Amino acid sequence: MENLSRRRALSLGVALGLVGVANPAGALTSTGSTGSAAGAAAGADPAWIWDEATDPLMVSMLENGHVPTINTKWAAWVNNNDPLPDGLPAAFAAHLRQVNRLPSWADRAKLARAADFNRRRDTYLFMLYGLGSGIMSTVIPREAKSVYWSAGGADMQDRAAKTFTFGYDLSQLGAFEPTGQFVVTANKTRVVHAAVRHLLPQSPHWRAVADETIPISAADILVTFHSLGTFVYRKLLDWKIPFPAADQEAFLHSWQVAIHLLGVPDEHIPQTWAAAEKQAAQVLTPILTPSTEGIALAEDLLGLTAQIDLGVTRGFLNEFVRYVLNDEVGDWLGLKRDYASAALVRTAWPAFILFREGLSPVMPNTFYVFDQFVRALAMLFLNKGSSGTTTPITIPTGNRAG
Ligand code: HEM
Repeated sequence: MENLSRRRALSLGVALGLVGVANPAGALTSTGSTGSAAGAAAGADPAWIWDEATDPLMVSMLENGHVPTINTKWAAWVNNNDPLPDGLPAAFAAHLRQVNRLPSWADRAKLARAADFNRRRDTYLFMLYGLGSGIMSTVIPREAKSVYWSAGGADMQDRAAKTFTFGYDLSQLGAFEPTGQFVVTANKTRVVHAAVRHLLPQSPHWRAVADETIPISAADILVTFHSLGTFVYRKLLDWKIPFPAADQEAFLHSWQVAIHLLGVPDEHIPQTWAAAEKQAAQVLTPILTPSTEGIALAEDLLGLTAQIDLGVTRGFLNEFVRYVLNDEVGDWLGLKRDYASAALVRTAWPAFILFREGLSPVMPNTFYVFDQFVRALAMLFLNKGSSGTTTPITIPTGNRAG
C-alpha cells in the first residue's frame, strides 16, 4: 500500500512537474529542510499553526455580532493607503492597523518587477491560475471540503470571482504601492480565513468529512501557494516561455509577501524556487485526490464557462484541463474525453506559444482560437464575464446549509 501510494505520488508528481526529490510521499515535515529562512531553528510544524493574531479576534467579532457592520464599513476600504473606515470595532481596527503593511523585508523594486512581469505574462497566468490552479484546488481535499461547506461554497461563481480578485490585485502594476490594492485584499482574506476557522468546525457537514478539527493551517496555505505560484513557475519553465532569473526572483518575492500577509510565519516561507519545489513535492503532490465536494466544485467552476463564449467547446475545455494538469486528475473529475480536441491542444498550444513569443515565424492556423480562448478566460475571471468591477470580499457569518 505504502509503495502503491508512493508510486502514485511519483507518477502524478512527474506529470504535474512537481516532483524531483526523495520522499515525495512523506508526511508534512518541518520546513527546516526546505530552505525557509529560519526553518531549521523554528521547528514548529506549520500543520499546527493557524493565526494567533487574527483567530481569537474573529471569534469575538463573530460572537458579538460585529461582522455585518464590518462588512458594510470595509466595502469602501480598497486601496492600500485608504484610511481605515470609521465605525469599525476598536479591537478590529487596531489589529488591521498593526498588520496592514508590507513586511520589513519586502523589496519594492522586486515587487514592481513582479507586477510588470504579471502584466507581461497575464495571458499565461490567467490560463494557468484559472484552469490549472483553480481545478487543482478541487483535488486538494482539505481545500475542496472547506470551500464547499463554507458559506461561499453555495455560490461558486461568486466565490471564484472573489478568489480571482486576489490574483487580479496581486497582478496589478503598483499592487503593493500605496495606491494599489493588494495589501488590503490580502488582509481581508486573512480575516475571512480566521472567521472560517471558527465557523466551519460548527458545520456538521464539514465535520463529517474533514480529517482535521480546525481548517486552514499555515501548512494548508503553503499547499495552496504551491498549487498557485510553484505550479505556475514550473509550467512557465516547462512550456519554455522566456522567464529570466530576475523575473523568477521577483515572481517568488511577490508570493513570499502574499503568504506573509496571509499570516504564515516567515520562517516557513520558502526562500528559493528550488526550496518551494522541494516543499511542493512533499506537501502537495502526495495529497492530491478526488472527493465528492471537489468533483462538484470542479463541475461548478468549469460550468462558469457557460456564461461566456470562450470560442471553444466544453470538450476542448476538458482537454485543456487534462493537458495543463494531467489525465489522472481529469479522470478523477470525470472530465469527458474529446480526442479531437486533445490532439489539437497538444500540438497547437505549443505552436501558439512559440509564435506568440516570437520564437517561431509560423503563425498556427488555430492562433485565433487560442487567442480568443485566453482572452475570454481572463475576462471571465476578472469580470465574472460582464460587470467589469471586482467583487468585494465579505466575511461569512455562517456555513453552507447543506
Ligand atoms: C476565502 C484566497 C488558502 C479556504 C478566500 C478568499 C480569498 C482566498 C481571496 C476570499 C474570497 C471569498 O470571500 O470567498 C486564498 C489564497 C490562499 C488561500 C490566496 C493561499 C495562498 C486557503 C486554504 C483554504 C482556504 C488553504 C482551506 C484549506 C477558504 C475558505 C474561504 C476562503 C473556506 C471562505 C469562503 C466563504 O466565504 O465561505 N481565500 N486562500 N483558503 N478560503 Fe482561501
